[in-house]
Amino acid sequence: MLNSMIKSKKNVLLYLMVTLLPAIVISYSLSIEKIEKYDNTYMSTAQTYANYHANHIDGFIRETVSRLDMLATLIEINPYDLSSVEEVLKRTHEKDVRFSGFYWANPQGDLLIGTNELTSPVNVFDRDYFQKAIKSGSYTISPAHIGRVTGRFIVTIATPVNKSSEVNGVLLASLRIDKIEEFVLNQVEDETIIVMDDTGQTIMQTHSSPIDESSYHYSYDIESVPWSIHAHVQPQENNLFFQVFLTNFGLLLILTHILFLVIQYFLLKKQVKMEKKQNELQKLELVENLAASTAHEIRNPLTGIKGLIQLLSEKYTDQKDQLYFTIIQEEVKRINSIVSELLLLGKPTAHTLKKCCVNDIIKEIEPIIKSEANFKSVHLCIHYSNEELPILCVKDHLKQVILNLLKNALEAVNSGGKVIIYLEQHQNECIIKVIDNGIGMSQDVLKKVFNPFFTMKETGTGLGLVVCKRIVEAYGGKIKIQSTVGQGTEVKLNIPLAIKDS
Ligand SMILES: Nc1ncnc2c1ncn2[C@@H]1O[C@H](COP(=O)(O)OP(=O)(O)OP(=O)(O)O)[C@@H](O)[C@H]1O
Ligand SMILES: [Mg+2]
Repeated sequence: MLNSMIKSKKNVLLYLMVTLLPAIVISYSLSIEKIEKYDNTYMSTAQTYANYHANHIDGFIRETVSRLDMLATLIEINPYDLSSVEEVLKRTHEKDVRFSGFYWANPQGDLLIGTNELTSPVNVFDRDYFQKAIKSGSYTISPAHIGRVTGRFIVTIATPVNKSSEVNGVLLASLRIDKIEEFVLNQVEDETIIVMDDTGQTIMQTHSSPIDESSYHYSYDIESVPWSIHAHVQPQENNLFFQVFLTNFGLLLILTHILFLVIQYFLLKKQVKMEKKQNELQKLELVENLAASTAHEIRNPLTGIKGLIQLLSEKYTDQKDQLYFTIIQEEVKRINSIVSELLLLGKPTAHTLKKCCVNDIIKEIEPIIKSEANFKSVHLCIHYSNEELPILCVKDHLKQVILNLLKNALEAVNSGGKVIIYLEQHQNECIIKVIDNGIGMSQDVLKKVFNPFFTMKETGTGLGLVVCKRIVEAYGGKIKIQSTVGQGTEVKLNIPLAIKDS
């Protein structure tokens, strides 16, 4: 119960770590990155608009000023002939709608004539723009103010008229801001353009709706007038961050879930593998315990049975009885061999290991294995090593290993087949190979051959290779099998050599 609760908590944690958390973190940082890109794009759009309109207004003002300069040059010819000056101003006023009026002031600031009638005498001497125009000798522009006649924003451009480096008078022109606004409106797309004078007063705005806080803003100063232009670009998408975040989050959630499933799959696979291994170990442990406790008990009565059958077979010489006795003896022999293997499975490490030379051990069993091979008409070849191959082992156990492997090889080949036993030293190891050209094994069978009781034979116990592995590993060695169906099998044992004089 506690275990499963911990497991499910772990699973939830893994789920959060693999799916939700990375999805949130990655989509958040991706969204920030994308929003920054959007910001830069909108900002550069606002900058382009601001620059564009600033240049246009600048051009407009410069063109207007150069017109006034031309007019001033005309007046310059005869500034004292007021009626002809008035005539020129009136004609220009009628033709050019940008101006709401022209005035001619003497150097003392008295407006002498104007295109709009002056009801009372007006003096502009104390006006800043007038003073500056007189002093600098070039044009000046007044701050924007509401025109008395038009009721709209106007600016006054003062252009001094000079005759032989002396100011003879000042041409004053009232420029209609609404005409500049019209000019700007013709060029505007979605952006909102606001023009402010140097006092911060808005003198024109292309869209009447209030400026949204989310809009992108860029401002420029216009060169020819002390005005600044502000371009506002409204992003097309609302809640852009959330839109981008949700899209990224959705996609990442799918990806991380796939990843989570893949991880789960591999974890499950690993767990199944571990459980299988554990099962095998338990099985082996059970066999070991069973072997240790019962093998001896079985062997003793078995010896009695064997002796008695021998006696009975001598007593009952009838041919049929003799057949039964041989079968019983064969079966007892089989039980005996199973019990011997069970005993080996018991605890091979419990025996004291002695230094023996593998070459000698094989020589000792050579007559038995040779006769077995002859009996099956199999060609057996033994390649001894030039070295002695001393290893620490229990002689009988190693013999058993070789016999088990040879038995398998002989069972795998047909008569006329070939089995080779190959001994050699490689670095600090003794190599024993048992090679046959028999039926071979599929990969599926190969995976199972070391499982206790796995057998493909009718009379097999499935303990032969288990015993070999157990013994070889008890000597610190390894067992490896390579096999190809229809071609044969090679079983290779690597056993560490005994260090000299040990
Ligand atoms: N040299 C070989 N060629 C082909 N198959 C083999 C070879 N050695 C082992 N096998 C396969 O591995 C299985 C397991 O072998 P193992 O020696 O453990 O048991 P067994 O031979 O079936 O029975 P026994 O306990 O009598 O040895 C065999 O049944 C056989 O299918
Ligand atoms: Mg076998």
